[in-house]
Amino acid sequence: MIDRNTKAPMTQNQCYKHVPCVDLFGDTKIKKETFTESFLVPPFSVLDTKQPYWQKRKKVWKNLILDDGSTRAGKLAKRTENWNEESDTYEIISKFDVSILDPVLSEVLLKWFAFENCKTFDPFAGDTVFGYVSSFLGNEFTGIELRQEQVDFNKEKTKGLNTKYICDDAVNVLNHIKENTQDFLFSCPPYFNLEKYSQLPNDASNQKEYKDFLQILNVAFSNAINCLKENRFACIVIGDVRDKKGYYRRLPHHICDIFEANGMKLYNEIIMFEMIGRKALTANRNFITRKNPKTHQNVLVFYKGDERRIKEIFKKLRWENLN
Ligand SMILES: C[S@@+](CC[C@H](N)C(=O)[O-])C[C@H]1O[C@@H](n2cnc3c(N)ncnc32)[C@H](O)[C@@H]1O
Repeated sequence: MIDRNTKAPMTQNQCYKHVPCVDLFGDTKIKKETFTESFLVPPFSVLDTKQPYWQKRKKVWKNLILDDGSTRAGKLAKRTENWNEESDTYEIISKFDVSILDPVLSEVLLKWFAFENCKTFDPFAGDTVFGYVSSFLGNEFTGIELRQEQVDFNKEKTKGLNTKYICDDAVNVLNHIKENTQDFLFSCPPYFNLEKYSQLPNDASNQKEYKDFLQILNVAFSNAINCLKENRFACIVIGDVRDKKGYYRRLPHHICDIFEANGMKLYNEIIMFEMIGRKALTANRNFITRKNPKTHQNVLVFYKGDERRIKEIFKKLRWENLN
């Protein structure tokens, strides 16, 4: 679609201003809001983190959170022999060589798939980003994390917010959170051994065999699903990883299998399109073996309960002004 004034092609966000639309939440008025006004980011199955509206909001969150992964800088165990620039599957490795969750993604998922003043949790908590964003928005957050130093850091960083970090194995989540008490399950578990977080024997990223890694995820997520109330969503951020021969292991599919076996079916699959960054430097080399450098992650959204109740429970969205 072309902008009548500038004659330039309109972005997805601008289109909304000019296209008559029905309100998705049952209001009868025709809306003239942009997508970003209504949904924070356009609510399609591809999230484009390179867009200025995303980057601007991310900067504001980063200044609030001030967790750049520095606690894990140099503390991660060496990458495994399977890892190299070619087999690396995603580009969120920060300047400290560790992945950090995107706070805007956290905010969007919380707003779209949770509701105000709810109970949120993550059995593979890692850094402070999700807990910070969730509690900043008024929710309660419980994070289970295996590494004591990360738990100590997170507690310090989120002092004064409604967060609780527990140092334990994710498979023991039911020892800390009661069944049917939580409103939103979020997790970004290890992507097998793409990053090795510790040498601890029960660290999911420290398993020699992929099947042992999957078994930890299976038990942890099965128990976590029990903590979730009926008629609630779970969002899992994940990326596929290649095996030693270069084939994809189909990790997102295996996560879907775990959730489906526990009564949560896949409701949305969102592709998060990321900054190309240093992938551009290795693209030529990767392509010699015809591997497409991966510039996206998958966000899997599962639902537990009666889908007919979604529109009654999940109401119109409201955004905080962060500036
Ligand atoms: C991908 S990171 C978490 C994502 C988080 N948003 C981040 O970027 O830090 C995975 C986390 O799971 C933790 N972990 C690994 N195995 C675990 C286990 N069995 N129980 C609990 N946490 C575990 C790791 O220490 C790591 O911090």
